[in-house]
Formats: sequence, structure tokens, C-alpha cells
Amino acid sequence: TASYENIKVEVVGSKKNVGLIQLNRPKALNALCKPLFVELGKAVNDFDADSNIAAIIITGNEKAFAAGADIKEMQNNTYSSNTKQGFLREWEDISNCGKPIIAAVNGFALGGGCELAMLCDIIYAGEKAKFGQPEINIGTIPGAGGTQRLPSYVGKSKAMEIVLTGNFFDAHEAEKMGLVSKVFPVEKLLEETIKLAESIGTHSPLIVKLAKQAVNQAYETTLKSGLQFEKSTFYGTFATEDRKEGMTAFVEKSPPNFKNE
Ligand code: CAA
Repeated sequence: TASYENIKVEVVGSKKNVGLIQLNRPKALNALCKPLFVELGKAVNDFDADSNIAAIIITGNEKAFAAGADIKEMQNNTYSSNTKQGFLREWEDISNCGKPIIAAVNGFALGGGCELAMLCDIIYAGEKAKFGQPEINIGTIPGAGGTQRLPSYVGKSKAMEIVLTGNFFDAHEAEKMGLVSKVFPVEKLLEETIKLAESIGTHSPLIVKLAKQAVNQAYETTLKSGLQFEKSTFYGTFATEDRKEGMTAFVEKSPPNFKNE
């Protein structure tokens, strides 16, 4: 595996089919500087291309998932430098990944940290996690999806309150508003997230990929074309070996043996 400066990458799980990426700039609370994002994008792409990997986990440490974009790095940016360089462009790599990505959030997930978690498909949180979009405190606004994803995940009133006040909210509030799917004791979070990834990993990777694409349509298009996408994808699963295997195994009362075909 490649060696990185700002992240740690390892393969975990009893079947060694879960790609684990740990953000590793603890002194800066995992502030998301460009070199970190370049490495993160590469690690995600590599796991996406690795047929032994079923799902990917992005995590931080107990103090911080990530405290946002790197304020020191962007302090002297200008409108024209942002525009010419496509500031934060690397972040899109994460949403191009076909495999499920789960965020395991302990500690702070602020600004770009909260937005990175929202770029993932599922968010699990440790009970001391703190979320927020505090950009307003430093004279800017969320710039990596916060103003767009938060309203569609938690509704307008909550999203406005979060973005306009910059106030933090905790893991239980995040769960209540639907941002986070489950909350665990801090020390159990990673183990539970690996279990989730392993459980996804028991299914056909091909069908998992199609299911992820279909759910994402609900956030990216109109209901009408989303339903159309769903229907043709559902019909399309009938052209796969794994659909045949899954239904045959059910009828024969035996466990399915998916081939990713
Ligand atoms: N960028 C750069 N450095 C950061 C950082 C960030 N986002 N967040 C924390 N750090 C650094 C601090 O500067 C400090 O470094 P030094 O020791 O060298 O001074 C170190 O991490 C530890 O931080 P604190 O001493 O502040 O730790 P704390 O426990 O007192 O406070 C905190 C924790 C409340 C999270 C506080 O660090 C904080 O408010 N951080 C900034 C949060 C923020 O505003 N995030 C949004 C960034 S903008 C953005 O993300 C834009 C976007 O939408 C893409």
C-alpha cells in the first residue's frame, strides 16, 4: 500500500474486505488541508478499484473527526485564486466512489468535517461527537456541500439554524434529526462501524453499487426521473448472475454465493 503523511490506511475486518482510512493530523484536529485531501482521494480511489474491498470507512480520532477546512491554509486565499485553482475541487473524488463509504465520527465534525461526513453514505457517531457548520463565525459560508446537503438531510429550519448560528450540536441531536443513523459509546464506534461494513460486504458488490446509485438519485434528481432510474436499475438486476443466485438460494433455502457478476 502507498505511504501517506496525513492519513493512515489499512484493511480490516474478519474477511479483510473493509478499507479503513484514518485522518491523521491530530495536532490540527484533522483540519482538511489540500495535501490531506489529495491523499484521501487517492486512498478512496484505490479501495474503489480493489475488488477485495466491499466498503470503506473514513474516521478520525477521539478528539476530532475533522475540525473543518484548514483555516491557516486558506487564510490568504482570494476570490480569484479560489476560482482559478478550483479551491476544494479534490473533494468531489469522494462522491465519485461507487462503493459504500461510512463515516465513523468521534469528536468534532465541523465545517468541512461535517461536510466530509455528509459526502459519505452512512454516518455512525460516537456519543461525544459534535457537529456544526461554524463557517459563519469566521466570515464565510459552508463551501463543500453544507448549504445544499444539510437541508435535504435534516430539513430547512434545522439547516438554517445550524448554518446561520454556527452552533454545535451533539451526536444524539444529529441522530434525532436523521443526519446520523446510529450513536455508540466512543470506544465501540469503530468496531460497530466495521460490523456494518462487513454486513454490507456479505451482499453482491455489484448489486450494492446499483443500490447506492439508486438511493443517491433521490438527492440528485426529480422524483419522476429518480423513480425511472430505480425501475430500470431494478429491471437491470434481472440481467445479473447474482440476482439469479439470490432468488434461487432463497427458494432452495440455502445461503447465496454471490459472484459479483
Ligand atoms: N484549520 C486549521 N487549524 C485548525 C482548525 C482548522 N479548521 N481547527 C483547529 N485547528 C488547530 C488550531 O489552530 C490549533 O492549532 P495550534 O495549536 O497550532 O494553535 C489546534 O488545531 C488545536 O485547536 P484548538 O486549540 O482551537 O482546540 P480547542 O479544543 O480549544 O477547540 C475547536 C476546538 C472548537 C474545534 C476549535 O479548534 C475550532 O473552532 N476550530 C475551527 C472550526 C471551524 O471554524 N471550522 C470551519 C472551517 S471553514 C470550512 O470548513 C470551510 C468549508 O466549508 C469547506
